[in-house]
Amino acid sequence: MSALSFEQAPPASVPLRFFVTAPFFGVAAGLVLAWNWQAVTASRWAPETVAVVHLMTVGFMLQVMAGALLQVMPVAVGANVSHPKLVAAIVHPSLTLGGALLPLGFLGAGPLALQAAAVLLAIGVFAFVVVAGLALARSPAVGPPLLVLRLAVAGLAIAAALGLALVSVFGFSLALPLGVLIDLHVAWASLGWALMLLLGVAYLVVPMFQLTPSYSVRTGRVLPALLLSALVGWTVAMTAHLEPLAWLSTALGIAGVSGFAIVTLRLQSKRRRKVTD
Ligand code: HEM
Repeated sequence: MSALSFEQAPPASVPLRFFVTAPFFGVAAGLVLAWNWQAVTASRWAPETVAVVHLMTVGFMLQVMAGALLQVMPVAVGANVSHPKLVAAIVHPSLTLGGALLPLGFLGAGPLALQAAAVLLAIGVFAFVVVAGLALARSPAVGPPLLVLRLAVAGLAIAAALGLALVSVFGFSLALPLGVLIDLHVAWASLGWALMLLLGVAYLVVPMFQLTPSYSVRTGRVLPALLLSALVGWTVAMTAHLEPLAWLSTALGIAGVSGFAIVTLRLQSKRRRKVTD
């Protein structure tokens, strides 16, 4: 799993267009903070807060993560994306426009901005999920990194579907249970997508770049299993109002997150790379 096949890499323009766009969303988040940081620090629910959250998570992070995955999947786990230029030409503008309209909608640009954001983000995210999912499903590789990358892409699909359901509450006035949807959206987006992806990428790059021993295959399977059980448990507990299951799921989530940190720090204490980064 650790050998890289650079000949499978897509043209540089494919990831680059995502990487070049992402910092502008970081700048926009900074401008919103400079304009009204009082609102952002005062309330989690202030429009400015939700706008900054999504300028960073959809505008910056999702943009970079999608571009990086298009480049990394074929090289690191043999998951070849067919027609990468066409995929980038659909996914990149949809994520960019949708990622800009979503915070504008939160900041008061009106339901039309939220509706357009929902359509564009649905196109961008689900086109990416289908293409990445197919590539990962067809990969001949075996081992935890491939498994975890598959879980991360599935996590993105669930997080985005919940996000789009939330937008429908605001943009299309659908009557859905807002509180439960927000909690589940945040859980799947942060643990099911972002942390799961971090896990898969750490399995590949921590040993490679820092010259540490590899994550053991058992750890490689147990950590995502803990995160996935926590997420499934929370989803059931919150929809069926089962408090003991929610507590159990929280314990599993804490075990998964802290287990990842502890294992990674232990590996890093055994690094053979002399330079301190
Ligand atoms: C398809 C993309 C997405 C859409 C359409 C979307 C939409 C939404 C909506 C409508 C809300 C509720 C806002 C409110 O109550 O005023 C929300 C909350 C939230 N979303 Fe997303 N979201 C998306 C992706 C993401 C991603 C990828 C992440 C993180 C990796 C994320 C993290 C959050 C967080 C943390 C909150 C809670 C905000 C707070 O408490 O201030 N979202 N999202």
